[in-house]
Amino acid sequence: MKPMGPIPPHFAGREALTIAGQDAEHWIAKAGNTPLFVYDISEVRTRLARLRAAMPERLDIHYAIKANPHPEMLAAIAPLVDGLDVASGGELTKALAVKEAGVVSFAGPGKRDDEIEAAIRAGATLNLESEGEARRALAIADRLAVRARLAVRVNPDFDLKGSGMKMGGRPSPFGIDAARVPALVRELIAGGADWRGFHIYAGSQALSAAAIIETQAATVALARRLADEAGAVPPLVNLGGGFGIPYFAGDEPVDVEAVGAALGETLAREGDPGTAYAIELGRWIVGECGVYLTRVVDVKESQGERFVVVDGGLHHQLAASGNFGTVVRRNYPIAVAGRMTGEGREVSVVGSLCTPLDRLGDKVGLPGPAVGDVIAIFLAGAYGFTASPGLFLGHPEARELVVGT
Ligand SMILES: Cc1ncc(COP(=O)(O)O)c(C=O)c1O
Repeated sequence: MKPMGPIPPHFAGREALTIAGQDAEHWIAKAGNTPLFVYDISEVRTRLARLRAAMPERLDIHYAIKANPHPEMLAAIAPLVDGLDVASGGELTKALAVKEAGVVSFAGPGKRDDEIEAAIRAGATLNLESEGEARRALAIADRLAVRARLAVRVNPDFDLKGSGMKMGGRPSPFGIDAARVPALVRELIAGGADWRGFHIYAGSQALSAAAIIETQAATVALARRLADEAGAVPPLVNLGGGFGIPYFAGDEPVDVEAVGAALGETLAREGDPGTAYAIELGRWIVGECGVYLTRVVDVKESQGERFVVVDGGLHHQLAASGNFGTVVRRNYPIAVAGRMTGEGREVSVVGSLCTPLDRLGDKVGLPGPAVGDVIAIFLAGAYGFTASPGLFLGHPEARELVVGT
């Protein structure tokens, strides 16, 4: 048997899965069928309250909606955070439906002119990814005769150590190499922009508090240095995110209290009093609140291996199949929803797609899954439904339910 990751504490330790006080069949009946994502918003609230308490008071907390842009999730999260980060014109529209434009920022390479125009018209901040994009934004603002809110995304000269996805310290399509940033800031200010500061995002899915602390300190110092060189005080420095969640056996949760305490010291020591600081998290806020429920349609044996075939698959929850940003495939936490405890027998849980990639649990120990049982795959709240190739092979779309409201 191969190990699987830890079931999040609020779902663990029960005989049968309950989500917001109800069992899986209750939510499936409510949604109409499987496959189904259920998001428990009360868990998100609990986490955000913990994060607030852990972080320095002067730190703003933004939600990166790419992690889960479900409209009901956004409506519930928006009042609890200080800003929203978006990555496309589509996400911009969703964010503006729930939050005022002044605290919405738009990062991402390849922004089209119509997306830049929409952000400028709305009064959202564009996190500029290149000098070319900066010039397009200035020209569009000129044409519209408005002052664009423009921040510079910096490609830092370091990465977030231990992160699952590094986004700094190397040639990158994201942001502008640190050495060229001061000149661009001067150009933006001279061009009449409302320069909003820096956005510095070094990586994603880091579990080590020590690594996050080190990266945040380096980020604060880098922003200070770039501001000095540019000769301007940034109104906002967005320190990025990258707080991970434990997906796999042996993973430990981030010690957010330790991160918050250290960041408080860093800001007291090195933060510019005229600057607001923010972090921008997606996964940590919503990842653990979601469960993907999928029903067993077949159980079969082949050459000594027992396959449990479910009605969902990687077209809904790509990450659990190991095909979304992981180098080595490992098992997400999985359970039989109606029998979370009991003697496990080795099975492989496979989806309904006609590809060997569609393996949701590889040789995991589950208590005798049978046709009709519901399989629960945890950690489905972030980068699930919208980060999966939902159209591939024409199977039905997954349903989504937000509960715990
Ligand atoms: C610019 C930016 N902000 C925020 C995030 C959210 O990261 P995470 O979900 O790891 O917190 C990402 C993730 O790729 C990102 O690229």
